[in-house]
Amino acid sequence: MATVLLTGGAGYIGSHAALEFLNDGSEVVVADNFSNSSPKSIERVEKLTGKKVALREVDVCDKAATRKLFEEFKFDAIVHFAGYKAVGESVAQPLKYYRNNIDSALVLCELMEEFGVNKIVFSSSATVYGTSQNVPLKETEPTGCTNPYGWTKLMIEQILRDFARSNENISVTLLRYFNPVGAHASGEIGEDPLGIPNNLAPFVCQVAVGRREKLSVFGSDYPTPDGTGVRDYIHVVDLALGHVAAYRNAKPGVSVYNLGTGTGYSVLDLVKTFEKVNGVKIPYELTARRPGDVATCYADPTLANEALGWSAKLGLEEMCRDAYNWQKKYPNGYRD
Ligand code: WQD
Repeated sequence: MATVLLTGGAGYIGSHAALEFLNDGSEVVVADNFSNSSPKSIERVEKLTGKKVALREVDVCDKAATRKLFEEFKFDAIVHFAGYKAVGESVAQPLKYYRNNIDSALVLCELMEEFGVNKIVFSSSATVYGTSQNVPLKETEPTGCTNPYGWTKLMIEQILRDFARSNENISVTLLRYFNPVGAHASGEIGEDPLGIPNNLAPFVCQVAVGRREKLSVFGSDYPTPDGTGVRDYIHVVDLALGHVAAYRNAKPGVSVYNLGTGTGYSVLDLVKTFEKVNGVKIPYELTARRPGDVATCYADPTLANEALGWSAKLGLEEMCRDAYNWQKKYPNGYRD
Protein backbone atom coordinates (compact mmCIF):
# COMPACT_ATOMS: atom_id res chain seq x y z
CA MET A 1 0.00 0.00 0.00
CA ALA A 2 1.37 3.43 -1.00
CA THR A 3 1.84 6.04 1.72
CA VAL A 4 1.24 9.67 0.81
CA LEU A 5 1.96 12.74 2.92
CA LEU A 6 -0.60 15.53 2.53
CA THR A 7 0.78 18.77 3.93
CA GLY A 8 -2.11 21.11 4.80
CA GLY A 9 -4.32 18.05 4.49
CA ALA A 10 -6.81 19.29 7.10
CA GLY A 11 -7.68 22.29 4.93
CA TYR A 12 -10.49 22.76 2.42
CA ILE A 13 -8.88 21.13 -0.61
CA GLY A 14 -6.52 18.96 1.46
CA SER A 15 -9.31 17.24 3.38
CA HIS A 16 -11.22 16.47 0.18
CA ALA A 17 -7.99 15.08 -1.30
CA ALA A 18 -7.33 13.00 1.85
CA LEU A 19 -10.74 11.37 1.39
CA GLU A 20 -10.10 10.54 -2.27
CA PHE A 21 -6.59 9.17 -1.61
CA LEU A 22 -8.08 6.88 1.07
CA ASN A 23 -10.78 5.78 -1.37
CA ASP A 24 -8.00 5.10 -3.87
CA GLY A 25 -6.33 2.70 -1.40
CA SER A 26 -3.43 4.84 -0.17
CA GLU A 27 -2.32 5.18 3.42
CA VAL A 28 -2.72 8.91 4.19
CA VAL A 29 -0.55 10.95 6.55
CA VAL A 30 -1.65 14.55 7.16
CA ALA A 31 0.69 17.22 8.48
CA ASP A 32 -1.10 20.44 9.38
CA ASN A 33 -0.46 23.31 11.83
CA PHE A 34 -4.21 24.15 11.91
CA SER A 35 -3.46 27.84 11.27
CA ASN A 36 -6.30 27.88 8.73
CA SER A 37 -8.00 24.51 9.28
CA SER A 38 -9.49 22.21 11.92
CA PRO A 39 -8.59 18.63 12.92
CA LYS A 40 -12.35 18.00 12.83
CA SER A 41 -12.14 17.83 9.03
CA ILE A 42 -9.97 14.73 9.32
CA GLU A 43 -12.24 13.18 11.96
CA ARG A 44 -15.07 13.58 9.45
CA VAL A 45 -12.96 12.09 6.62
CA GLU A 46 -12.27 9.04 8.79
CA LYS A 47 -15.98 8.69 9.57
CA LEU A 48 -16.93 9.01 5.89
CA THR A 49 -14.37 6.45 4.67
CA GLY A 50 -14.21 4.14 7.66
CA LYS A 51 -10.41 4.42 7.39
CA LYS A 52 -7.76 5.92 9.65
CA VAL A 53 -5.61 8.93 8.84
CA ALA A 54 -2.29 9.49 10.61
CA LEU A 55 -2.79 13.12 11.64
CA ARG A 56 0.22 15.07 12.91
CA GLU A 57 0.15 18.70 14.12
CA VAL A 58 3.27 19.91 12.36
CA ASP A 59 4.34 23.19 10.77
CA VAL A 60 6.22 22.07 7.66
CA CYS A 61 8.42 25.14 7.92
CA ASP A 62 9.88 23.41 11.01
CA LYS A 63 12.47 21.07 9.48
CA ALA A 64 13.22 19.15 12.68
CA ALA A 65 9.54 18.46 13.32
CA THR A 66 8.91 17.55 9.69
CA ARG A 67 11.94 15.25 9.60
CA LYS A 68 10.31 13.20 12.37
CA LEU A 69 7.49 12.40 9.91
CA PHE A 70 9.97 11.14 7.32
CA GLU A 71 11.54 8.99 10.04
CA GLU A 72 8.15 7.62 11.15
CA PHE A 73 6.73 6.88 7.68
CA LYS A 74 8.18 5.76 4.32
CA PHE A 75 6.47 8.14 1.92
CA ASP A 76 5.87 7.25 -1.73
CA ALA A 77 4.77 10.80 -2.51
CA ILE A 78 4.18 14.25 -1.06
CA VAL A 79 1.07 16.28 -1.94
CA HIS A 80 1.90 19.80 -0.85
CA PHE A 81 -1.15 21.93 0.02
CA ALA A 82 0.18 23.78 3.08
CA GLY A 83 0.59 27.51 2.54
CA TYR A 84 -0.97 30.90 3.08
CA LYS A 85 -3.36 31.75 0.25
CA ALA A 86 -5.15 35.06 0.74
CA VAL A 87 -4.29 37.44 -2.10
CA GLY A 88 -5.14 40.63 -0.20
CA GLU A 89 -3.32 39.55 2.95
CA SER A 90 -0.23 38.73 0.87
CA VAL A 91 -0.12 42.32 -0.39
CA ALA A 92 -0.34 43.65 3.17
CA GLN A 93 2.13 41.10 4.63
CA PRO A 94 4.46 39.94 1.80
CA LEU A 95 7.35 38.83 4.08
CA LYS A 96 5.06 36.53 6.07
CA TYR A 97 3.96 34.92 2.78
CA TYR A 98 7.46 34.52 1.34
CA ARG A 99 8.84 33.16 4.60
CA ASN A 100 6.03 30.66 5.15
CA ASN A 101 5.32 29.45 1.62
CA ILE A 102 8.91 29.28 0.34
CA ASP A 103 10.41 27.83 3.56
CA SER A 104 7.88 24.98 3.66
CA ALA A 105 8.62 24.05 0.05
CA LEU A 106 12.40 24.09 0.64
CA VAL A 107 12.08 21.97 3.80
CA LEU A 108 10.07 19.37 1.89
CA CYS A 109 12.53 19.24 -1.04
CA GLU A 110 15.51 18.85 1.31
CA LEU A 111 13.80 16.04 3.22
CA MET A 112 12.69 14.34 0.00
CA GLU A 113 16.33 14.30 -1.08
CA GLU A 114 17.53 13.09 2.34
CA PHE A 115 14.99 10.26 2.52
CA GLY A 116 14.80 9.34 -1.16
CA VAL A 117 11.16 10.39 -1.68
CA ASN A 118 10.86 11.00 -5.41
CA LYS A 119 7.31 12.23 -6.11
CA ILE A 120 5.73 15.57 -5.29
CA VAL A 121 2.39 16.98 -6.43
CA PHE A 122 2.19 20.74 -5.81
CA SER A 123 -0.89 22.87 -5.23
CA SER A 124 -0.27 25.74 -7.64
CA SER A 125 -2.80 28.23 -8.97
CA ALA A 126 -4.11 29.90 -12.11
CA THR A 127 -3.03 33.11 -10.44
CA VAL A 128 0.42 32.46 -11.97
CA TYR A 129 -1.07 33.52 -15.32
CA GLY A 130 -1.38 37.03 -13.93
CA THR A 131 -3.62 39.39 -15.89
CA SER A 132 -3.55 37.35 -19.11
CA GLN A 133 -6.87 37.49 -20.92
CA ASN A 134 -5.73 34.94 -23.53
CA VAL A 135 -8.55 32.55 -22.61
CA PRO A 136 -8.97 29.62 -22.54
CA LEU A 137 -5.62 29.55 -20.73
CA LYS A 138 -3.14 26.84 -21.74
CA GLU A 139 -0.18 25.67 -19.60
CA THR A 140 2.12 27.28 -22.19
CA GLU A 141 0.65 30.73 -21.45
CA PRO A 142 3.39 33.06 -20.20
CA THR A 143 3.33 33.48 -16.40
CA GLY A 144 3.69 36.61 -14.33
CA CYS A 145 2.07 37.53 -11.04
CA THR A 146 0.26 40.54 -9.64
CA ASN A 147 0.56 39.78 -5.92
CA PRO A 148 3.02 38.18 -3.46
CA TYR A 149 0.76 35.14 -2.98
CA GLY A 150 0.92 34.42 -6.71
CA TRP A 151 4.69 35.01 -6.76
CA THR A 152 5.17 32.43 -3.99
CA LYS A 153 3.32 29.87 -6.13
CA LEU A 154 5.41 30.70 -9.18
CA MET A 155 8.67 30.70 -7.19
CA ILE A 156 7.84 27.30 -5.72
CA GLU A 157 7.11 26.03 -9.24
CA GLN A 158 10.61 27.21 -10.20
CA ILE A 159 12.22 25.63 -7.10
CA LEU A 160 10.55 22.32 -7.98
CA ARG A 161 11.60 22.57 -11.65
CA ASP A 162 15.24 23.10 -10.65
CA PHE A 163 15.02 20.34 -8.03
CA ALA A 164 13.78 17.90 -10.70
CA ARG A 165 16.49 19.06 -13.09
CA SER A 166 19.15 18.26 -10.47
CA ASN A 167 17.93 14.72 -9.79
CA GLU A 168 16.65 12.45 -12.60
CA ASN A 169 14.54 10.37 -10.18
CA ILE A 170 12.43 13.30 -9.04
CA SER A 171 8.87 13.58 -10.36
CA VAL A 172 7.21 17.00 -10.03
CA THR A 173 3.57 17.63 -10.93
CA LEU A 174 2.38 21.24 -10.80
CA LEU A 175 -1.40 21.53 -10.57
CA ARG A 176 -2.71 24.99 -11.44
CA TYR A 177 -6.15 25.27 -9.80
CA PHE A 178 -8.79 27.57 -11.14
CA ASN A 179 -11.62 28.39 -8.72
CA PRO A 180 -12.42 25.56 -6.27
CA VAL A 181 -16.04 25.58 -5.07
CA GLY A 182 -18.43 23.19 -3.35
CA ALA A 183 -18.10 20.39 -0.81
CA HIS A 184 -18.31 16.62 -0.45
CA ALA A 185 -21.90 15.51 -1.14
CA SER A 186 -22.26 14.35 2.49
CA GLY A 187 -21.98 17.96 3.68
CA GLU A 188 -19.63 16.74 6.43
CA ILE A 189 -16.53 18.55 5.08
CA GLY A 190 -16.34 21.87 3.26
CA GLU A 191 -14.85 25.33 2.97
CA ASP A 192 -14.55 27.13 6.31
CA PRO A 193 -12.64 30.39 5.83
CA LEU A 194 -11.54 32.36 8.89
CA GLY A 195 -13.12 35.82 9.16
CA ILE A 196 -14.78 37.54 6.20
CA PRO A 197 -14.50 35.26 3.14
CA ASN A 198 -12.33 36.68 0.33
CA ASN A 199 -13.81 34.28 -2.19
CA LEU A 200 -17.21 34.45 -3.85
CA ALA A 201 -18.71 31.05 -3.08
CA PRO A 202 -18.15 30.97 0.69
CA PHE A 203 -19.43 34.54 0.93
CA VAL A 204 -22.61 33.57 -0.95
CA CYS A 205 -23.03 30.57 1.37
CA GLN A 206 -22.73 32.79 4.44
CA VAL A 207 -25.35 35.17 3.02
CA ALA A 208 -27.59 32.16 2.37
CA VAL A 209 -27.43 31.04 6.03
CA GLY A 210 -27.84 34.57 7.38
CA ARG A 211 -24.28 35.13 8.56
CA ARG A 212 -23.84 38.02 6.09
CA GLU A 213 -26.45 40.58 5.06
CA LYS A 214 -25.72 40.80 1.34
CA LEU A 215 -23.14 40.11 -1.34
CA SER A 216 -21.10 42.93 -2.88
CA VAL A 217 -20.60 42.18 -6.55
CA PHE A 218 -17.16 43.59 -7.34
CA GLY A 219 -17.61 45.32 -10.67
CA SER A 220 -20.43 45.20 -13.20
CA ASP A 221 -18.68 47.03 -16.04
CA TYR A 222 -16.28 44.32 -17.20
CA PRO A 223 -16.23 43.37 -20.90
CA THR A 224 -18.20 40.17 -20.14
CA PRO A 225 -21.73 39.03 -21.09
CA ASP A 226 -23.35 40.54 -17.97
CA GLY A 227 -20.53 42.91 -16.91
CA THR A 228 -19.46 40.83 -13.89
CA GLY A 229 -16.24 38.81 -13.57
CA VAL A 230 -16.03 35.44 -15.29
CA ARG A 231 -14.18 32.52 -13.68
CA ASP A 232 -13.68 28.77 -14.14
CA TYR A 233 -15.39 27.27 -11.09
CA ILE A 234 -14.40 23.67 -10.42
CA HIS A 235 -16.02 21.33 -7.89
CA VAL A 236 -13.59 20.58 -5.05
CA VAL A 237 -14.26 16.83 -5.42
CA ASP A 238 -13.22 16.99 -9.09
CA LEU A 239 -10.15 18.90 -7.98
CA ALA A 240 -9.34 16.29 -5.34
CA LEU A 241 -9.68 13.49 -7.90
CA GLY A 242 -7.28 15.41 -10.13
CA HIS A 243 -4.63 14.98 -7.41
CA VAL A 244 -5.15 11.21 -7.29
CA ALA A 245 -4.88 11.08 -11.10
CA ALA A 246 -1.71 13.20 -10.97
CA TYR A 247 -0.19 10.88 -8.36
CA ARG A 248 -1.12 7.77 -10.36
CA ASN A 249 0.41 9.20 -13.54
CA ALA A 250 3.54 10.68 -11.96
CA LYS A 251 6.68 10.31 -14.04
CA PRO A 252 10.25 11.65 -13.67
CA GLY A 253 10.66 15.29 -14.72
CA VAL A 254 8.18 18.16 -14.51
CA SER A 255 4.52 18.10 -15.58
CA VAL A 256 2.16 21.08 -15.43
CA TYR A 257 -1.63 20.81 -15.62
CA ASN A 258 -4.54 23.24 -15.47
CA LEU A 259 -7.27 21.82 -13.25
CA GLY A 260 -10.39 23.57 -14.48
CA THR A 261 -13.62 22.72 -16.28
CA GLY A 262 -12.89 24.83 -19.37
CA THR A 263 -16.13 26.75 -18.85
CA GLY A 264 -16.37 30.29 -17.49
CA TYR A 265 -19.29 31.56 -15.42
CA SER A 266 -19.94 35.12 -14.25
CA VAL A 267 -20.57 36.21 -10.67
CA LEU A 268 -24.27 36.66 -11.47
CA ASP A 269 -24.39 33.24 -13.18
CA LEU A 270 -23.20 31.70 -9.92
CA VAL A 271 -25.59 33.75 -7.77
CA LYS A 272 -28.60 32.91 -9.95
CA THR A 273 -27.67 29.20 -10.11
CA PHE A 274 -27.19 29.13 -6.34
CA GLU A 275 -30.65 30.71 -5.83
CA LYS A 276 -32.29 28.31 -8.28
CA VAL A 277 -30.88 25.02 -7.02
CA ASN A 278 -31.20 25.91 -3.33
CA GLY A 279 -34.47 27.86 -3.36
CA VAL A 280 -32.91 30.80 -1.54
CA LYS A 281 -32.57 34.52 -2.26
CA ILE A 282 -29.10 36.07 -2.27
CA PRO A 283 -29.39 39.84 -1.83
CA TYR A 284 -26.57 41.64 -3.62
CA GLU A 285 -25.33 45.11 -4.46
CA LEU A 286 -23.31 46.05 -7.57
CA THR A 287 -20.18 47.80 -6.29
CA ALA A 288 -16.80 48.94 -7.63
CA ARG A 289 -14.27 46.56 -9.11
CA ARG A 290 -11.84 44.89 -6.67
CA PRO A 291 -8.27 46.06 -7.38
CA GLY A 292 -6.22 43.35 -9.10
CA ASP A 293 -9.19 41.41 -10.48
CA VAL A 294 -9.21 40.41 -14.14
CA ALA A 295 -12.37 40.36 -16.24
CA THR A 296 -12.18 36.78 -17.44
CA CYS A 297 -10.19 33.69 -16.47
CA TYR A 298 -10.91 30.11 -17.47
CA ALA A 299 -8.86 27.04 -18.37
CA ASP A 300 -8.08 24.92 -21.36
CA PRO A 301 -7.96 21.58 -19.45
CA THR A 302 -7.07 19.47 -22.50
CA LEU A 303 -3.61 18.50 -21.24
CA ALA A 304 -4.94 17.11 -17.94
CA ASN A 305 -7.77 15.37 -19.77
CA GLU A 306 -5.34 13.60 -22.12
CA ALA A 307 -2.28 13.00 -19.90
CA LEU A 308 -4.11 12.17 -16.65
CA GLY A 309 -7.30 10.67 -18.03
CA TRP A 310 -9.02 13.17 -15.74
CA SER A 311 -11.78 15.68 -16.40
CA ALA A 312 -14.18 17.64 -14.23
CA LYS A 313 -17.51 15.85 -14.06
CA LEU A 314 -19.58 18.11 -11.78
CA GLY A 315 -21.22 21.32 -12.97
CA LEU A 316 -22.12 24.66 -11.43
CA GLU A 317 -25.46 23.33 -10.11
CA GLU A 318 -23.75 20.54 -8.15
CA MET A 319 -21.15 23.03 -6.86
CA CYS A 320 -23.89 25.37 -5.58
CA ARG A 321 -25.98 22.50 -4.18
CA ASP A 322 -23.08 20.89 -2.33
CA ALA A 323 -21.64 24.16 -1.03
CA TYR A 324 -25.02 25.11 0.48
CA ASN A 325 -25.63 21.60 1.84
CA TRP A 326 -22.38 21.86 3.86
CA GLN A 327 -23.09 25.43 5.03
CA LYS A 328 -26.70 24.58 6.02
CA LYS A 329 -25.52 21.62 8.11
CA TYR A 330 -22.71 23.61 9.69
CA PRO A 331 -23.51 27.37 9.54
CA ASN A 332 -20.34 28.07 11.54
CA GLY A 333 -18.24 25.50 9.78
CA TYR A 334 -16.04 23.36 12.05
CA ARG A 335 -16.72 25.71 14.95
CA ASP A 336 -20.25 24.31 15.17
C1 WQD B 1 -14.24 35.30 -8.05
C2 WQD B 1 -15.12 36.38 -8.69
C3 WQD B 1 -14.59 38.59 -7.94
C4 WQD B 1 -15.96 37.97 -3.80
C5 WQD B 1 -8.77 33.84 -6.05
C6 WQD B 1 -7.28 33.72 -6.06
C7 WQD B 1 -6.88 32.40 -6.67
C8 WQD B 1 -7.57 31.28 -5.94
C9 WQD B 1 -9.08 31.46 -6.00
C10 WQD B 1 -6.15 30.50 -4.18
C11 WQD B 1 -14.32 37.63 -9.09
C12 WQD B 1 -16.00 38.20 -7.53
C13 WQD B 1 -15.61 37.78 -5.12
C14 WQD B 1 -17.03 38.84 -3.46
C15 WQD B 1 -17.38 39.29 -5.79
N1 WQD B 1 -7.16 31.25 -4.58
N2 WQD B 1 -16.31 38.43 -6.10
N3 WQD B 1 -17.69 39.47 -4.48
O1 WQD B 1 -10.20 36.24 -7.29
O2 WQD B 1 -10.89 34.58 -9.11
O3 WQD B 1 -9.27 33.87 -7.36
O4 WQD B 1 -9.35 32.73 -5.38
O5 WQD B 1 -5.51 29.72 -4.82
O6 WQD B 1 -5.48 32.28 -6.54
O7 WQD B 1 -6.75 34.76 -6.87
O8 WQD B 1 -11.65 34.22 -6.74
O9 WQD B 1 -13.71 33.94 -5.43
O10 WQD B 1 -12.17 35.89 -4.90
O11 WQD B 1 -13.50 35.93 -7.00
O12 WQD B 1 -18.00 39.88 -6.70
O13 WQD B 1 -17.38 39.07 -2.26
O14 WQD B 1 -16.08 36.80 -7.75
O15 WQD B 1 -14.54 39.95 -8.37
O16 WQD B 1 -14.89 38.15 -10.28
P1 WQD B 1 -10.51 34.84 -7.70
P2 WQD B 1 -12.76 34.99 -5.93
